[in-house]
Amino acid sequence: MGSRYREVYESWKQDPERFWAEAAGAIDWFKPWDKVFDADAGIYGRWFAGAECNTCYNAVDRHVNGGRADQLALIHDSAITGTTAKFTYAELKREVVALASVLKNHGVRKGDRVIIYMPMVAEAAFAMLACARLGAIHSVVFGGFAARELATRIDDAQPKLIITASCGLEPGRVIAYKPLLDGAIEIARHKPERCVILQRPQQTCELTQGRDIDYADAVARERAAGANVDCVPVLATDPLYVLYTSGTTGQPKGVVRDNGGHMVALEWSMWNEFGVEPGEVFWAASDVGWVVGHSYIVYAPLLHGCTTVLFEGKPVGTPDAGTFWRVIAEHGVVALFTAPTAFRAIKGQDPDGAFVPKYDLSKFRTLFLAGERADPETIKWAEQKLNIPVIDHWWQTETGSPMSQNPVGLGQLPVKYGSPGVPMPGYDIQVLDDAGHPVGRGTLGNVVVKLPLPPGCLPTLWNADERFRQAYLAEFPGYYKTADAGYIDDDGYLFIMARTDDIINVAGHRLSTGGMEEVVAEHPNVAECAVVGIADAMKGQVPCAFVVLNSGVNRESAAVEQEIVKLVRDRIGAVASLKTVVTIKRLPKTRSGKILRATMQKIADKEAWTMPATIDDPAILDEITAALNGRGIGV
Ligand code: COA
Ligand code: AMP
Repeated sequence: MGSRYREVYESWKQDPERFWAEAAGAIDWFKPWDKVFDADAGIYGRWFAGAECNTCYNAVDRHVNGGRADQLALIHDSAITGTTAKFTYAELKREVVALASVLKNHGVRKGDRVIIYMPMVAEAAFAMLACARLGAIHSVVFGGFAARELATRIDDAQPKLIITASCGLEPGRVIAYKPLLDGAIEIARHKPERCVILQRPQQTCELTQGRDIDYADAVARERAAGANVDCVPVLATDPLYVLYTSGTTGQPKGVVRDNGGHMVALEWSMWNEFGVEPGEVFWAASDVGWVVGHSYIVYAPLLHGCTTVLFEGKPVGTPDAGTFWRVIAEHGVVALFTAPTAFRAIKGQDPDGAFVPKYDLSKFRTLFLAGERADPETIKWAEQKLNIPVIDHWWQTETGSPMSQNPVGLGQLPVKYGSPGVPMPGYDIQVLDDAGHPVGRGTLGNVVVKLPLPPGCLPTLWNADERFRQAYLAEFPGYYKTADAGYIDDDGYLFIMARTDDIINVAGHRLSTGGMEEVVAEHPNVAECAVVGIADAMKGQVPCAFVVLNSGVNRESAAVEQEIVKLVRDRIGAVASLKTVVTIKRLPKTRSGKILRATMQKIADKEAWTMPATIDDPAILDEITAALNGRGIGV
């Protein structure tokens, strides 16, 4: 059967408001909208203006009321602790209501912010949904970020309360969260009133008197008291969450997600794009701290009435490269969504796919990859070993769901290796040159989206309308700048090739090299620095810092380099993955003083490069080549 993609995309293009109003029929609203799209509201317009709804109601209560009470809603599978916990929709509601009651008793109300700094435990999802139930705005901070990153987010979001755990678990390592929490609150100007702390048996922590609340005790009390908390109606345009993502400086951007449009977009995506039916088991192997975790571990599968898997572990080493197949077989997963890096890791350890036939993967229909460029070799390997379609798709924290995809629900189109598919309804994707003129098919340029953005995309940045305009809308008037470079081929398939800003993608994690440079520059011996992303076989990219030491520094450069590695780990977190620091005598610059980062990256990656015409002193590039080669890089 042919794909309905073109027909459906055309129907969106003909009448976007009718298209999204129809999609909104899949959501329960407390009050219908006054306008499907209010072009005069917000910065570029707002979706479902005037409507009232509640995301927790749609993700949980409506399924309990509608016959799914006894269906599994959430499976927590920890490959690190070797434990599994399962929650039906009725049980999920009980957990969420009890926690919402705790939050409410501590004064959390509609519009208040709550930071969730959690490892991959089921309580992280309960916490998100409990906030949604109250109309409070959650901001989940990835557990791999260090105290200072947490502090930045505390100051920006100004949370009333923080929900956290005593520890996170990485293979062979327990990460105590309490010192990170205390450190962050110490650094932050804003002080949250309360912290709700989940004690994990692997490492408990001492609670701070007068501030901290024991999660389990508090929830048990509410349950025993038979607490009930109704879902608080919020405007469709009210924020559901703020998720901080790397920007072009060390100051992360608070991406705002609303309630109404978000639900409509996610619910639409589950069948049409991911081809998953209510009642089926969907697994996004990501982390709740990233947008993939928000959208496809928690909200989309639950809105759609699926069973979602929340997995604590790694694709390799917990305990082996067969873990993904074990989870799929054990829980009857029909679709897995992960980052290509996870498959490169599996392929690296089990190149022949020897673990695959050990498990019953008969229910597994589709593998979805996103978060970074999916290299054709990895896709082909996965297709061959799993014998199912492998679908690359492209999106960003800002959009909340795919901008381009090969929509398996609408009918799969032919796969083109290296392409994350075709534009999804809502997205008029164009490629412009730097002056803002459209380029021809097959020509590389700036990938932009014609405004307005569809439901589910960010309406603005938290408390930063002007930054939103400047960062995304100013450069190409009438368009949203994705900051990705790419091209569209003759068949309308998109190819995403690189970022146009300082963002790098490390193991599917989005990081700012500018943010890292700010930290490296704090080292007292560093005069100047540049951080670039260089190719890595497993992680896709890893950062490499070039540093010039202050004149008169009389120490072994190796010692300084190690201190810099530690500094970045302490300030940003281990997730930054900065392991290579190279001391050089001077940085290559243009005559106007711009650091030639792209040329340094090309040298490190052994790509062809040409001498920039405006370079100040060409000999510097030989010095850099020698320094890198001395480390075995770019040889
Ligand atoms: N809390 C604390 N530390 C964390 C962490 C967390 N939640 N997540 C990662 N880290 C640490 C890791 O332990 C590692 O520390 P190390 O330098 O001491 O080894 C460091 O941060 C870098 O982590 P990562 O880049 O994830 O590398 P890894 O070697 O631990 O794992 C992969 C590599 C490819 C297996 C893993 O990144 C992966 O599965 N990625 C794909 C899935 C994914 O999460 N995608 C994100 C969005 S879709
Ligand atoms: P994040 O906001 O963390 O989801 O990162 C978004 C960025 O990751 C995008 O702007 C792209 O640079 C990159 N990205 C995500 N998905 C893909 C993909 N399928 N192919 C290429 N790059 C991708």
